[in-house]
Amino acid sequence: MTAQLNPRGDVAVLVPAAGAGIRLGPGGPKALRLLDGEPLLVHAVRRVAAAPSVRLIVVAAPSAEIDAVRALLAPIAPVTVVAGGAERQESVATALAAVPDEIEIVLVHDAARALAPPELVESVAAAVRGGSPAVIPVLPVVDTVKQVGRDGIVLATVDRSALRSVQTPQGFRHKVLAAAHAAASDPTSTMTDDAGLVERAGVEVTCVPGSERALKITRPLDLVLAEALLRVP
Ligand code: C5P
Repeated sequence: MTAQLNPRGDVAVLVPAAGAGIRLGPGGPKALRLLDGEPLLVHAVRRVAAAPSVRLIVVAAPSAEIDAVRALLAPIAPVTVVAGGAERQESVATALAAVPDEIEIVLVHDAARALAPPELVESVAAAVRGGSPAVIPVLPVVDTVKQVGRDGIVLATVDRSALRSVQTPQGFRHKVLAAAHAAASDPTSTMTDDAGLVERAGVEVTCVPGSERALKITRPLDLVLAEALLRVP
């Protein structure tokens, strides 16, 4: 059944899904890999569409797959599909350009975090609505973390208590995200998230609790974990 998005919602969600997903092994764009018989992107969009504040979803798809992605998502939810770029940052910028000015909150998600629950979308959006210009969901780091030189020799042990693993969706006031992307002169920079761009612009970024379900499906084992998570109520 096609979900109805809330026409009075104040949130747009961008879903970059144009990556090759090489770390997942051979088999086409990562967002279109199957999890329990459905592409990761379908799982991701279904959960985003179930969040009551969401008015618009924009997916950045591999340029060769735009029509296929439109057809795939049509039964799931009304979604705008644009062509992604060579780097994630370009894919996000292209999707952002499709969001009308009157939508004040923009979340940036990853198709690879296909099981992020609607509640996480809502809690990030609520923190932005509550006054934070930029919001990221985070989890504590459980491993000991070391800084290591190129020669494989340990340089230092990092204080884990001050570290967090960062997830998506990340939430922003629309103007803050647009300004950060406009100021990012190098679309091929190695910045791996949008909060990084916003931090560089001097904007305060606030943390909210993340979700174990929002794991990033990157390597083959992650697919096995995600299949198991689907069975957990
Ligand atoms: O490569 P990485 O795992 O960091 O990708 C995170 C998300 O960004 C994935 O959903 C991927 O499809 C998307 N992406 C994109 N355009 C690219 C590279 C990655 O939309 N050029």
